[in-house]
Amino acid sequence: MERLQKAMAEAGVASRRASEKLILAGKVVVNGQKVTELGTKVGVHDEIVVNGVPIQREQHVYYLLNKPRGVISSAHDEKGRRTVTDIIHDEDVDERIYPVGRLDYDTTGIILLTNDGALANKLMHPKYEVEKTYIAKVNGIIENSELKQLRLGVVIDGRKTKSAKTKLINIDRNKKTSLVQLTIHEGRNHQVKNMFKAVGHPVIKLHRETYGPLNLHGLQPGEFRALKPDEVQLLKNKK
Ligand code: URA
Repeated sequence: MERLQKAMAEAGVASRRASEKLILAGKVVVNGQKVTELGTKVGVHDEIVVNGVPIQREQHVYYLLNKPRGVISSAHDEKGRRTVTDIIHDEDVDERIYPVGRLDYDTTGIILLTNDGALANKLMHPKYEVEKTYIAKVNGIIENSELKQLRLGVVIDGRKTKSAKTKLINIDRNKKTSLVQLTIHEGRNHQVKNMFKAVGHPVIKLHRETYGPLNLHGLQPGEFRALKPDEVQLLKNKK
């Protein structure tokens, strides 16, 4: 069950605020009964009629995309650049989906897209601490002491990052670069790049391998798939 104004907003009738005004103005009928209370809850099978027109309820959909480089993680881009939702809409998916969280324009890897606002908000809330694993190619030869700093937390914009996990994958002594796996639970802006910068190793390339229980197995850059019902349940069950 969800609030009537939220169901209306999700169906694209109007914003949540404007939907509230429609309810208060007596323009909304649920299962044949006029509703003027903002607390009213509706389920997927309730019929909602606004200004005499039944609204189309959308089923919730969940997609996992392997984001390629050079694509924006939002539903629209003012500059007309290709977005993660464009990739999915190009394959005849019609739902109004949006990404859960962001990856930078030049970052590749796993990103979830959905029209389930409740789940998206939950997953992005710091309280739920979804674990995300990144592979970063960084400048310079990273020292064990620097990896330890990353694990214990570094200060970014005056605030220390929460504890993280690190794994050194490779060091290229000729090119003077290091490949590091970093697992974090937060989602601050440009967090991974800023963490490596804080220990003196700017990121050259960044890829996200896992998001909570989900991984990219079988998905090439630019490919996506629908989540299986049990995968959706795993995300919903996250406490
Ligand atoms: N951290 C970053 O710095 N960039 C991303 O795209 C994701 C996490």
